[in-house]
Amino acid sequence: MKLNIAILPGDGIGPEVMEQGVAVMNAVAARFGHEFEYHEAICGAHAIDEVGDPFPDATFQVCMDADAVLFAAVGDPRFDNNPTIKVRPETGLLAMRKKLGLYANVRPVETFDCLLHMSPLKEHLIKGADFVVIRELTGGMYFGEKYQDNDKAYDTDIYTRPEIERILKVGFECARSRRHHLTVVDKANVLASSRLWRQIAKEMEPQYPDVTTDYMFIDNAAMRVLTEPRFFDVIVTENTFGDILTDETSCITGSMGLQPSSSLGEHTPLFEPVHGSWPQAAGKNLANPIAQILSAAMLLEHFGLKAEGKCIRDAVTASLDANVRTPEIQVEGGKHYGTSEVGQWIVDYIKG
Ligand code: IPM
Ligand code: MN
Repeated sequence: MKLNIAILPGDGIGPEVMEQGVAVMNAVAARFGHEFEYHEAICGAHAIDEVGDPFPDATFQVCMDADAVLFAAVGDPRFDNNPTIKVRPETGLLAMRKKLGLYANVRPVETFDCLLHMSPLKEHLIKGADFVVIRELTGGMYFGEKYQDNDKAYDTDIYTRPEIERILKVGFECARSRRHHLTVVDKANVLASSRLWRQIAKEMEPQYPDVTTDYMFIDNAAMRVLTEPRFFDVIVTENTFGDILTDETSCITGSMGLQPSSSLGEHTPLFEPVHGSWPQAAGKNLANPIAQILSAAMLLEHFGLKAEGKCIRDAVTASLDANVRTPEIQVEGGKHYGTSEVGQWIVDYIKG
């Protein structure tokens, strides 16, 4: 298969984990006879420094012309904690989501047997947990009308019927492709936007008689993912709830550095690790490249390349089993491996 892939390394640890993601894609291309062409483009703080825009038009064009985008992370402490700054790396991320129409953010939560003991949860709770959070990504408070002066500020949590229907459809269909269980997470006891979500989900339920649908308030869901993570198969929720819930779910499997994601919608699909730019670790060869590498696996699977995706996943599991691990998940007293060593080990494994 020929694929044209836009590469957006971004800021912080982005470039170094991306290097490993691309190396793994190349190893897969060589082994399975594919042709992957890459087009790198700037974004985030990096792009603000170079051209004054965190998601420049040229980068947007590279993304639009590509079959898929492999993205790493954006963010820089220079822009944090300063409410007066107007242009921030995150503004670019939101522009990218909006312009590419990436309304469905898919964040799987998968466990690795050899890392169960690293979970902040008890092993018997987390063992076998395997679920997906589908977060609406282009609506709600993130994009609703905003206002701020010295005495008053607000954000509007607005959703329209078509926005809700299309993301619920992704949720129902994802459940259908898995264990047929969908949990709609909202705050319908308080918020009007949530009540519309729930109303529409109930209207859609009869179209999916093979899916068991239940409803849970976000505060309760935040507790249940910790007390009973195996309850869940597919969760679908709005933008802000999904943001918070997926930080929680990303760490219950042991390390945030292991969790990939995809964002799908109207234009080019995008694949990225759930972790951020971790600026403190930038350039230190410390960051775990696995979330980026698994994002590459999700990219290939999106195009039907199942064997290729499995090959990457097997290589990742083998590296963890072999204790070839970055510091945050290394066994006590074990040798630490760097970002590039872990990546190289996985590449070598794939080459066979
Ligand atoms: C995420 C991030 C972003 C978000 C930030 C960086 C704007 O936390 O992708 O979850 O809030 O969506
Ligand atoms: Mn987040």
